[in-house]
Amino acid sequence: MNDSRGLPFSSGTSSSHETYERALAALNVYRGDAVAIIDEALSTDPDFVMGHVLRAEVLITMWERSVLPKVHESLQSLQALHDRSNDRERAHAQAIARWAQGDWDGMRLSFERLLADHPRDLLALQVSHLADFYHGDRDSLRARPERVLPSWTSADPAYGILLGMQAFGLEECGQYAQAEDTGRRALELQPDDCWAHHAVAHVLEMQARQAEGIAFMQSREAHWAQSDNGFSFHNWWHTALFNLDQGRNAEALALYDRCIRPEPIGVQVMMLDATALLWRLHLNGVDAGTRWNELADTYEQSEEAGFYVFNDMHAMAAYTATGRTRAAADLLKAVQASAAGQGTNARMTREVGLPIVQAIDAFGQGRFAETVNLLLPVRYKAHAFGGSHAQRDIIHRTLIEAALRGGDQPMARALTQERTAHKSHCAFSWGLRQRAA
Ligand SMILES: [Fe+2]
Repeated sequence: MNDSRGLPFSSGTSSSHETYERALAALNVYRGDAVAIIDEALSTDPDFVMGHVLRAEVLITMWERSVLPKVHESLQSLQALHDRSNDRERAHAQAIARWAQGDWDGMRLSFERLLADHPRDLLALQVSHLADFYHGDRDSLRARPERVLPSWTSADPAYGILLGMQAFGLEECGQYAQAEDTGRRALELQPDDCWAHHAVAHVLEMQARQAEGIAFMQSREAHWAQSDNGFSFHNWWHTALFNLDQGRNAEALALYDRCIRPEPIGVQVMMLDATALLWRLHLNGVDAGTRWNELADTYEQSEEAGFYVFNDMHAMAAYTATGRTRAAADLLKAVQASAAGQGTNARMTREVGLPIVQAIDAFGQGRFAETVNLLLPVRYKAHAFGGSHAQRDIIHRTLIEAALRGGDQPMARALTQERTAHKSHCAFSWGLRQRAA
């Protein structure tokens, strides 16, 4: 009754255990639909505790309000099975319950305890690693895999998956050389680990190695861009960024149409990448045509406002770019209401989210000095509302563009000098600096 990493199941048939391994393997490399796979086991084995756990936690990794009803369904099943569950399974159920209550910080603490007791719980590790990402917690992104690695060996099939997580954490901590080595080692062990591939892509992005970045993405496309890869949209987004910062706008837009936003899906993590790419083009003065309308429509139809402020920032960008002042005002009200509420998103919103959402709204209305004043105090604290350095770069770009358009030449010069010091090989950053000069 143990899983393949030696952790005991309290329940389940050998067939459901096999299905659990298949669903977890799918999650590890973001291939296929892990929820659909585990549902196969739950349909014939409804008392399989770890099946309910995996189902709820995979849904949680989407980090949006729309999954709450299904997460609550799984929680009800877990509560009914509470007395028959083992301690580790109950710890999972506690983490899920905390997330469902909006206590995302508490969820991460539950996982920290669980992983100290059970460092080989791969599901707990991956889900909490993603939770660290949604908190922009670079230290935990690196340290969480590092805390458990000594309990694993390179003979473990998932060892490469752990190195992929560590590589991303190292990159977010700015340890680029070590991140690249670790990521490339992870890829030797598990070539289809699109998260490890992505960690290396981040190193290339942060070091502005754009031409090398495009070659890296192309050379390994068979390993990260499979048709059933649920993370490929994001690796395509990185490919588009490499193109964009070399001035290849047409290529970036072609990737948008073909790979990043081929259809109007309401999944928030997909929408935010699409928005962030168009917003970079918007700041550069490039007209993205009708693409913005589709995004803004989809945001208006969603019921996510006020759930997670990192998503709200992107919705505001879509409303700003399409001049939807009414939708922008409604969103601002929802964000202000969540700032006054309870839970982790309320804290994130108060600390950084609200001023950033207000800054983008102000930018859209041409109040550039206000944008500068709102962003300056929070731009280096913005990790508090999640995402990666690469994703949050739109905050720095918006700030520079607001300074330029607002005629604040000393600030634009200062900010672009800072940028070229970090990215001395980045043609785009030098272009900004020339404009400021
Ligand atoms: Fe990324």
